[in-house]
Amino acid sequence: MVTSSSDAGNRPLLLISTFATLSLLYFVGWIVHRLFLHPLHHIPGPWINAVSRIPYARHLIAGTTVDNVKFLHDKYGEVVRLSPNEVSFTSGDTAWQDIYGFRTGKLKGHENMRKDPAWYSPPPTSTHIIVANDEDHSRFRKVLSHAFSEKALAQQEALLQSYVDLLVGRLKEVISKDSGPQDMVKWYNWTTFDIIADLLFGEPFGCLQNLSTHKYISLLFANLKVFRLSYVMYYWPFIRRLRSLLLNQEILQGRIDFYRWIGERTQQRVQTEIQRPDFMTEILKHNGEKGAEMTPTEMNNNASIMITAGSETTATLLSGVTYCLLKNPEVMKKLKDEVRGKWKKYDDITLEAVNKAPYLIAVLQEALRYYPPLPTGFERRVGKGGEYVSGYFIPEDTAVCVSSSPTGRSPQNFKDPDSFIPERWMDDPHFVDDKKTSIQPFSVGPRNCLGKNLAYAEMRLILAKIMWSFDLELSPKSENWMEHKVFVVWKKPELAVHIREVERED
Ligand code: HEM
Repeated sequence: MVTSSSDAGNRPLLLISTFATLSLLYFVGWIVHRLFLHPLHHIPGPWINAVSRIPYARHLIAGTTVDNVKFLHDKYGEVVRLSPNEVSFTSGDTAWQDIYGFRTGKLKGHENMRKDPAWYSPPPTSTHIIVANDEDHSRFRKVLSHAFSEKALAQQEALLQSYVDLLVGRLKEVISKDSGPQDMVKWYNWTTFDIIADLLFGEPFGCLQNLSTHKYISLLFANLKVFRLSYVMYYWPFIRRLRSLLLNQEILQGRIDFYRWIGERTQQRVQTEIQRPDFMTEILKHNGEKGAEMTPTEMNNNASIMITAGSETTATLLSGVTYCLLKNPEVMKKLKDEVRGKWKKYDDITLEAVNKAPYLIAVLQEALRYYPPLPTGFERRVGKGGEYVSGYFIPEDTAVCVSSSPTGRSPQNFKDPDSFIPERWMDDPHFVDDKKTSIQPFSVGPRNCLGKNLAYAEMRLILAKIMWSFDLELSPKSENWMEHKVFVVWKKPELAVHIREVERED
């Protein structure tokens, strides 16, 4: 066959246009599949989220993910598609059990949904209770759970009280010399870090004593940036290579240094006989029992996670509740009336007594709804064969979660969701239709929070003793304090509060 020279000249053009047409067809076909044929096509949401993960990742990086997920639920309802393989629920009254609950009753025989590796990145070496697979998790939980029982906690009341008293005492000293506003975020962080450090290592980090944030705690906060990028690096592994450009080297090194430092403290404590039993005494007593062993590295990693999980969360809730009280003077007054009326003497404020203070308990419960310390979702992957969540069929390997903050603020779950109303937790008939079980700030099931009892004890004692001792006033510079971003946890700015000691006639 004879080929003309013009045909030969056109061939590259023809190849390019055929390639372009096929690519376009493939691309259109792929979009049509994602929108109409994908096993998640029945889940509502913006079409772009079904096609691409970029919009969701963009919010994650910008710290606006909670606002965005709330916006999507307001628009599309109790279930929404966040990205091609991620689904969020606000139907907490059923979804908590379906996703996180024990596999009993109608779920008997179903496997636990595993933690989504895109969200749970392991420590530099080995593993810890939060990211561990079910087998390791059960081993760790068996060792650690004794330390967190109500009985063990009751034995630590003197220690807890001593730190709450130190907080109150140091605040009194500082305000007697300095009439300026105090940053309550710092004060609460100092207290909760010192408490958990003493429970684990037999001595505090010295934050309250020195009125300064320990170097390694500052590193821990800087580390939150790494969490946010873990998700991005999981789905776009090439970004891992740009890590050194995207992240400050000091932060990367800080993560390693933090784990090393906690490791050293843990091993020091393990070698030391102490007179006063603490959480570590319980942990060491049970380590090595059948099915409950931890290697030294696992012990170090679990200590790191308890330091992190056991301080920042409780301090966040205390900061949030302080702000909510300052913005709702009538609630503040009712709480002060309860606290100051119930306890004539400061020393009457015991653990047993705060557990019987109904308004205090309702205020904290409302704060957990209004401003949950972990505001996003705890993502899980659906197991083999798929599962029903809140009545929706979700195929295998989809990432699912209950989004905490959007669930608490959903008008489908709560009347006047954007108002801070503790009475809703006290059988007020106006709120009889509130779906109270949709709020599970400590999660449910086999992976629920181990430190729930400790968290409640700290929050109740600290709030009661602060309310008994001081009158607080919000500084104008913190007027809009709650408008802040989320990088896995809230990125809390300074909470500036004027503090005055309550004068009493003895
Ligand atoms: C208001 C305070 C707190 C809140 C809202 C909170 C919330 C949570 C949540 C939602 C989880 C499950 C996370 C997931 O599924 O990935 C969790 C797990 C955990 N929390 Fe807390 N927490 C708080 C305080 C504490 C304290 C004081 C400690 C004490 C060390 C603690 C220790 C833990 C541990 C060890 C786990 C892992 C449990 C497991 O996987 O078996 N938390 N927490």
